Amino acid sequence: MKATPELLWGRFQKYFHQFPAIDLSIDLSRVNFPDDYFSSMEPKMKAAFTAMEQLERGAVSNPDEGRRVGHYWLRDPERAPVPEMVNAIKSTIEAIQGFVADVHLGTVRGASGRFRKLLIIGIGGSALGPQFVSRALGSPLEDRMKVYFFDNTDPDGMDFVLDSIGDALGETLCVVISKSGGTQETRNGMLETKAAYERSGLKFEAHAVAITGEKSALDQLAVSGGWLKRFPMWDWVGGRTSELSAVGLLPAALQGINITAMLEGAKACDVVTRSPQVEANPAAQLALMWYHIGGGKGSKDMVILPYKDRLELFSKYLQQLIMESLGKELDIKGNVVNQGIAVYGNKGSTDQHAYVQQLRDGINNFFVTFVEVLRDRKGTSMTVEPHVTAGDYLNGFFQGTRRALHENGRESITLTIKEVSPFSVGVLIALYERAVGFYASLVGINAYHQPGVEAGKKAAASVVSIQCKILQTLAKRKGKAATCSEIAAMIGSSSDVETVFMICEHLAANSDRSFRRNVGATPFEATYELI
Ligand code: PA5
Repeated sequence: MKATPELLWGRFQKYFHQFPAIDLSIDLSRVNFPDDYFSSMEPKMKAAFTAMEQLERGAVSNPDEGRRVGHYWLRDPERAPVPEMVNAIKSTIEAIQGFVADVHLGTVRGASGRFRKLLIIGIGGSALGPQFVSRALGSPLEDRMKVYFFDNTDPDGMDFVLDSIGDALGETLCVVISKSGGTQETRNGMLETKAAYERSGLKFEAHAVAITGEKSALDQLAVSGGWLKRFPMWDWVGGRTSELSAVGLLPAALQGINITAMLEGAKACDVVTRSPQVEANPAAQLALMWYHIGGGKGSKDMVILPYKDRLELFSKYLQQLIMESLGKELDIKGNVVNQGIAVYGNKGSTDQHAYVQQLRDGINNFFVTFVEVLRDRKGTSMTVEPHVTAGDYLNGFFQGTRRALHENGRESITLTIKEVSPFSVGVLIALYERAVGFYASLVGINAYHQPGVEAGKKAAASVVSIQCKILQTLAKRKGKAATCSEIAAMIGSSSDVETVFMICEHLAANSDRSFRRNVGATPFEATYELI
């Protein structure tokens, strides 16, 4: 039965909550949970609050890795359980501010003078937060430095960025970010950058900063190479929750973003989301909505739809935070549960001209989280027709889509913020970090490890090692071509001809590898040789 406008207005008034301390509102009225849902979930939620309290007090909440989980201390250092941690957090923030001041003043400078550009090299949790914040809070007119990213080991992608920097390497500060200090994509990006500096007759090390774990391979390299500066990454901060550590704070501060306000926003959000009353706690509300909508099994995808261009990377950032945290095979008791929630999105109203058609009329396997931003722009707006601005249209499209989805039985949550500011970005980061933690408790999984990521890294290393064997073997028999099956047998990989085939096809497509492919009767009878 379709709800009347009066019933909907009543439901809206019941489930629209405002949190003035963090300038946030949340509307749950378009999720079809019954009125006794919160009370029925009380025991589970109580356990989630207790687990979170223990985590914040310093319990080993990542049991698989035997680690504490301390991202909440980053914005409220006094909460850290050990004085050394309190000091480490505070002194790192001071060191960031001091270094950034030196860079902006030009006391610390590159070979060609003051640093005007910033190249961030990192991946996953060591890139997505900085990318999101840079896009959300940057300004072409006010930024202190122009920011570029290497977040992959794609050579063409790196060329694109280096070409964009052009002949300005001497005024480019490179920040290499890797908690483990051994991530291949990041190492490769660093090596390619170093080579680019050398080609320009410049010393990379005099333009480089490392953010990494103490004594990691990257840390040792930075020490031995005499890099400009090193900032710490602690084992008690996970990659995807590291935006408010040096990982996110240094790039943001260098760009000219107010990191103090970001930290304040996150801290204020933590205060609100520590409340054990669900009605007063937006993070608990989010977690409970995810649980209800997906039946505690993540059966519906989360579509993040902010109506603000600045937030277009929010869905990418959340995709990692949520999917890497919640996408787990086993629960904490070791049962196979294959948990997770798929996350995707971009921005409205743009997406209305893309996939929103399917959301409204197609398979109902999702729920939307709208992010509404009340303030249109810093300055004044022109009217595009009598009484109506472009921003009014954006608001109209947001409301229209929310309504159209509801009318077709599609559920949605709406978050409303006043503006995209350092404070509100800090709030959003903290809100989702805690919602993820609560949801993980509700479904009984460890949100703070990532065994799947490690598995992928190991598999890649094995492919690279097979490639080395292929090249060594063919080097000894130059001029004598062989099929992929023959090569696989030669290197003792007969059970993995497919990998050999794919490696050979890749090598043959790159003329700089001196690796020839001779056409065969079928793709698999092609022969390969080193020339
Ligand atoms: O969130 C995570 O733990 C991962 O996505 C890591 O951030 C990613 O694998 C990069 O790792 P590192 O910072 O060690 O280079």
